[in-house]
Amino acid sequence: MKDLVIVGAGGFARETAAAAHAGWRVLGFTDDDPALNGTQRSGLPILGPVDGVRDMDAAVVVCVGNPRAYTARRRIVERLGLPVERYATVVHPSVSIGAGSTIGAGSVLLAGAVLTADVTVGGHVAVMPQAVLTHDDLVSPYATIASGVRLGGGVVVGEGAYLGAGALIREGVTVGAGSLVGMGSVVLREVPAHQVWAGNPARFLREVKELTS
Ligand SMILES: CC(C)(COP(=O)(O)OP(=O)(O)OC[C@H]1O[C@@H](n2cnc3c(N)ncnc32)[C@H](O)[C@@H]1OP(=O)(O)O)[C@@H](O)C(=O)NCCC(=O)NCCS
Repeated sequence: MKDLVIVGAGGFARETAAAAHAGWRVLGFTDDDPALNGTQRSGLPILGPVDGVRDMDAAVVVCVGNPRAYTARRRIVERLGLPVERYATVVHPSVSIGAGSTIGAGSVLLAGAVLTADVTVGGHVAVMPQAVLTHDDLVSPYATIASGVRLGGGVVVGEGAYLGAGALIREGVTVGAGSLVGMGSVVLREVPAHQVWAGNPARFLREVKELTS
């Protein structure tokens, strides 16, 4: 088993630790909140600030971000500047990966996710429990696919986009880079880049505001 350090100590980081137990020796979390230093989360230690992973002899996965701060993962990866070989790909044992599918370094697939066939998942993508990605889907780097999302065939999810829990995306549709689709939405047509859409059928709500971590 190889050693793994998880960047972040929030909900997604702890979910990743649970998913990684079958294939990795999880050493703990790193987090920039000094109040967490020396404490434990999910029975694992907080090893110190995020930048400490540079000097650790372990694989790394960056597990930060939520619907209010979904650009945080990209910012941390860029700040760390680690070579791609340092990044782990964490796949829960229950994930189903069909032929022709690929998953980039730094990505995490949580329990029950399904990639049916010829699905391309880029680097540093988060795929939450029970998401279903079907044939020929392309999920670009830094995207987040929340739990229960269903993508029709040939869907393109742009870089850093966030698909809220339970969203349905019609086959062949593109969700633009940095856009956010609200939970439970039914997306029938293209969502341009850097916009928030929600509802059934999904409609434009607003432009994406600058998000902080
Ligand atoms: C889409 C979203 C980002 C909008 O949040 P917001 O910008 O704070 O917007 P508001 O809550 O003020 O809602 C604005 C309007 O959109 C509607 N709306 C918000 N989210 C909606 C959704 N998911 N579906 C349908 N309508 C929605 C609201 O009812 C409101 O309508 P009104 O102006 O007619 O009253 C948020 O509701 C959402 O769905 N986030 C994703 C959450 C998620 O997936 N979490 C799971 C992982 S932790």
